[in-house]
Amino acid sequence: MTAELDAIAQKMVADGKGILAADESTSTIKKRFDSIGVESTEDNRRDYRELLFRSEGMKKYVSGVILYDETIRQKAKDGTPLVSLIQAAGAVPGIKVDTGAKPLPFCPGETITEGLDGLAGRLKEYYDLGARFAKWRGVIDIGAGIPSYPAVRANAHALARYAALCQEAKIVPIVEPEVLMDGDHDIDTCYRVTEWVLKTVFEELYYQRVRHEGMVLKPNMVVPGKKSAKKASVDEVAEKTVRLLKTCVPSVVPGIAFLSGGQSDEEATAHLDAMVKLGDLPWKLTYSYGRALQAAPQKAWSGKAENVAAAQAAFTHRAHMNSLAALGQWST
Ligand code: 13P
Repeated sequence: MTAELDAIAQKMVADGKGILAADESTSTIKKRFDSIGVESTEDNRRDYRELLFRSEGMKKYVSGVILYDETIRQKAKDGTPLVSLIQAAGAVPGIKVDTGAKPLPFCPGETITEGLDGLAGRLKEYYDLGARFAKWRGVIDIGAGIPSYPAVRANAHALARYAALCQEAKIVPIVEPEVLMDGDHDIDTCYRVTEWVLKTVFEELYYQRVRHEGMVLKPNMVVPGKKSAKKASVDEVAEKTVRLLKTCVPSVVPGIAFLSGGQSDEEATAHLDAMVKLGDLPWKLTYSYGRALQAAPQKAWSGKAENVAAAQAAFTHRAHMNSLAALGQWST
């Protein structure tokens, strides 16, 4: 079982490939569709995701796709399960299994991610549907007096409980503790909070006996808050993020696949490239982007069948740029 898990984790971070986060919940994809003037119907959601999975970029640059419960059960227009399209492109199907971030008692403005109850049974079903990895996102916000100890501890504990359940079900856990980039904090505040979060997450993973070789970490990069007056250069983000990860992430973890978290498409690519270019890294670094891979194809598609080829080209381009970045070969 451990060999199987480790092999999947390694495939997810294969050279020059990364993960497509297409696991937007029904309410999140509705927001994305609203912004391009597309009605969020089951068929439109299927058509959009089908076009991504049939694109050239899928075969060349995508190691795995994170799906939402609805999508893992959907069939393409011609009746082929979407999971089969992903497998045919050589990628691993994955599934988001948390049920969202809910208010944490006595911690105003903070959340705990839910979804542990009944998870063992759901993982079994997802395995039968073809999922070989899963994702769970804990959310940590930076603000006046937050994050609090209970929020950091509870989210790290839930991530570790989820990861252990996944590994028992022969599913590789993507462990995603996201420190949000909302707010006006500077880059060093992001560094300190992310360090606290990652240290706590790896402590909890240890206590829950999670096998580090059979997991993938999905962290935020170390960046200033979006409303911070102090911007950071690409080199500063790269240097601080790599220094932090070397401080916190055991070297037997096969790979780290970043979230884009609201960075622009090009920033997300440039930051990854600069980190890989630093060299001397114990783990693979790659992307597990949602918005930074999909904003361009969504805009190009705009819900029209005649735009499918243009949307696929836009997706392939972003995936190609991020693939180059994961190899440290991207340039503007
Ligand atoms: P973004 O890259 O848009 O942050 O999404 C990645 C993801 O899966 C968030 O949970």
